[in-house]
Amino acid sequence: MIISRYRYKSDTLPQKCKYTVNVRYKAMRIVLFLAIIAFQEAIGFKKPNIILIIGDDEGWNDFGFHGSNQIPTPNIDALAYNGIILDKFYTQQTCTPSRAALLTGVYPFRFGFQGKPINPGENRSLPLDTPTMAEQLKKLGYSMHLVGKWHLGAAYKHVTPTRRGFDSHFGYWAGFVGYFDYMASTELTNTTNYTGLDLHDNFEPQWQYQGQYATDLFTEKSLDIIDKHNADKPLFLLLAHLAAHTGKDGIEIGVPNITEAHEKYKYIDRKERRQYAEVVKKMDDSVGEVVQKLSHRKMLENSIIIFFSDNGAQTEGMFQNFGSAWPFRGLKFTLLEGGVRGTCVAYSPLFEKRGYINKELMHITDWLPTLYHAAGGNVSDLGNIDGINQWEVLSRNASTSRSEILLNIDEVDDYSGLLSCNGRYKLINGTHKDGIYDWYYGDSGRNGNEPEYDIQAVLNSPTNIAIQKLNSNTHIDQEIIRRTREEVDRSWCRDKNDTPKISCQDFCLFDLDHDPCETKNLIDDPNKRSIVVALKNKLAEYYEVLTPQLTKQVDINSDPSRCNNTWYTWLDYGANWFKNL
Ligand SMILES: *[C@@H]1O[C@H](CO)[C@@H](O)[C@H](O)[C@H]1NC(C)=O
Ligand SMILES: *[C@@H]1O[C@H](CO)[C@@H](O)[C@H](O)[C@H]1NC(C)=O
Ligand SMILES: *[C@@H]1O[C@H](CO)[C@@H](O)[C@H](O)[C@H]1NC(C)=O
Ligand SMILES: *[C@@H]1O[C@H](CO)[C@@H](O)[C@H](O)[C@H]1NC(C)=O
Ligand SMILES: *[C@@H]1O[C@H](CO)[C@@H](O)[C@H](O)[C@H]1NC(C)=O
Ligand SMILES: *[C@@H]1O[C@H](CO)[C@@H](O)[C@H](O)[C@H]1NC(C)=O
Ligand SMILES: *[C@@H]1O[C@H](CO)[C@@H](O)[C@H](O)[C@H]1NC(C)=O
Ligand SMILES: *[C@@H]1O[C@H](CO)[C@@H](O)[C@H](O)[C@H]1NC(C)=O
Repeated sequence: MIISRYRYKSDTLPQKCKYTVNVRYKAMRIVLFLAIIAFQEAIGFKKPNIILIIGDDEGWNDFGFHGSNQIPTPNIDALAYNGIILDKFYTQQTCTPSRAALLTGVYPFRFGFQGKPINPGENRSLPLDTPTMAEQLKKLGYSMHLVGKWHLGAAYKHVTPTRRGFDSHFGYWAGFVGYFDYMASTELTNTTNYTGLDLHDNFEPQWQYQGQYATDLFTEKSLDIIDKHNADKPLFLLLAHLAAHTGKDGIEIGVPNITEAHEKYKYIDRKERRQYAEVVKKMDDSVGEVVQKLSHRKMLENSIIIFFSDNGAQTEGMFQNFGSAWPFRGLKFTLLEGGVRGTCVAYSPLFEKRGYINKELMHITDWLPTLYHAAGGNVSDLGNIDGINQWEVLSRNASTSRSEILLNIDEVDDYSGLLSCNGRYKLINGTHKDGIYDWYYGDSGRNGNEPEYDIQAVLNSPTNIAIQKLNSNTHIDQEIIRRTREEVDRSWCRDKNDTPKISCQDFCLFDLDHDPCETKNLIDDPNKRSIVVALKNKLAEYYEVLTPQLTKQVDINSDPSRCNNTWYTWLDYGANWFKNL
């Protein structure tokens, strides 16, 4: 009964994702494709450049525009105020699933990618019959470049970025590397680690950059790509930062100058968070440099720039980076808001509406169809995927047709979740590792000793200056910034001194419209009985189409010490490959 009051699509559950089309149909489509491209060029449609910048393990509370004064992020804030703040943008709970969802537009649980991130030396990769965003956009004529992290497998050459649609990749294949030494490690057994250099230019190991700070290096390579880009062609650049994941040995919070970081952020209590603040600040500088470069090359006027964090913060536990999801509940690895409600901003002069907060439900899988559409493609080419085209939703603040998101189903962890009724209700079934990350963590950034929010720094940022130079500029000022920031700030949603412990072992239901901090479990509320039943049924239907996880042991033959301590696509050469080197 209640459920019918909400927009509900009965066809949101494809029985199975179909990816194959017969060859003749394919050929016909290619011809049609070329005809459409020729037509678009004739009417003066110029495909936009797409610049996607991803931060790693950064929390909701680590960006100035969300209301905390601890970490200065003037460039990202300038994108936010001039562009669109995606207030209800959801990601997956960890790196590999998020990146898989981004690049395929398909929920990871459909192809066995719902669980653990890929370890170096593990033979696991994106299914070859699922096209990637890079392959799809390349077909539309884009130059495709990846700088930084991949994390979707590297056992064979044919599963790496340059064989999955990118023209170039400078960066690393693993989940993280050292900020200065670019070494990636993996535990083979509890007594042996494999360690090797994981910095590659396509397939060439890049020892010569050891000692250079990762954020600077990846920025430099990105600027180089923009500089050399033939502006007659559309550019796609995915800049996937190491920042702010932990680096070397999974514990490094890498900054160029530790003394300086402690001096600059002395108002922050934890010394590790001071370093973290500088890691995020350096990444924000990078955003400014990229936007400035696009402006210098006159590419900004026809660009779409998107920034988001791949998942929530890792305030505690393994890979602890001292990020903060405050005031939300939960961390990376959880399906609570702290884990999956992503920080996301987008700016483009091509958006009809700019300078506003978009409150429509959006999922990371939506970027593929949205960008494909923006690039002039026909979204029906993408087949039966979970992502939906949200271009109109963003550009015009139209209402979305997405009413639900399957957050994940991890059948090994016994942990799943679903968002429904336009993001109002969240059903959770289970916990991650007995709920070790289900509490509230992280610095509030509202301790009274922080400096004031530096609005001038936002207005004077390279990003704002570049945007203001465009004819189609958006007017922003102190008042607009203050008002916007107040509206996205969720400080009100939790009583600091009274936050109940909740276990979702036996299901939780949260009403996010009224309780974004997930403080009240409504699962036993008699008024919510019918919604609970409906959501449980919905979730159960998704279980039916799950592909079990494909996680594998680290392959003993991947040992980088056999190859001058460099990670390499070892399975291209058979089990004894190293003997032929
Ligand atoms: C690596 O994984 C692929 C895909 O699952 C499989 O076809 C191949 O046999 C595996 N190789 C080895 C050596 O296990
Ligand atoms: C390492 O693993 C072996 C076999 O699983 C186990 O017997 C041993 O206790 C472990 N050692 C440590 C230090 O955890
Ligand atoms: C392997 O590396 C991890 C992370 O650096 C470390 O915690 C662990 O002790 C190492 N194990 C061995 C056996 O060296
Ligand atoms: C780090 O910063 C401090 C304070 O600004 C400065 O005195 C020092 O020379 C710097 N160290 C390095 C290695 O650059
Ligand atoms: C997109 O493709 C579908 C199926 O090929 C077709 O029916 C539709 O008309 C196309 N839309 C546009 C705008 O070309
Ligand atoms: C966007 O749409 C929402 C919901 O319809 C509305 O409340 C809001 O005022 C709109 N914002 C802008 C800037 O159009
Ligand atoms: C809840 O999770 C358990 C596994 O922990 C699973 O057996 C059950 O089917 C799930 N129920 C729903 C409604 O998703
Ligand atoms: C082998 O590794 C060393 C660093 O340990 C590096 O200096 C050297 O260039 C590497 N050799 C090749 C051929 O890559």
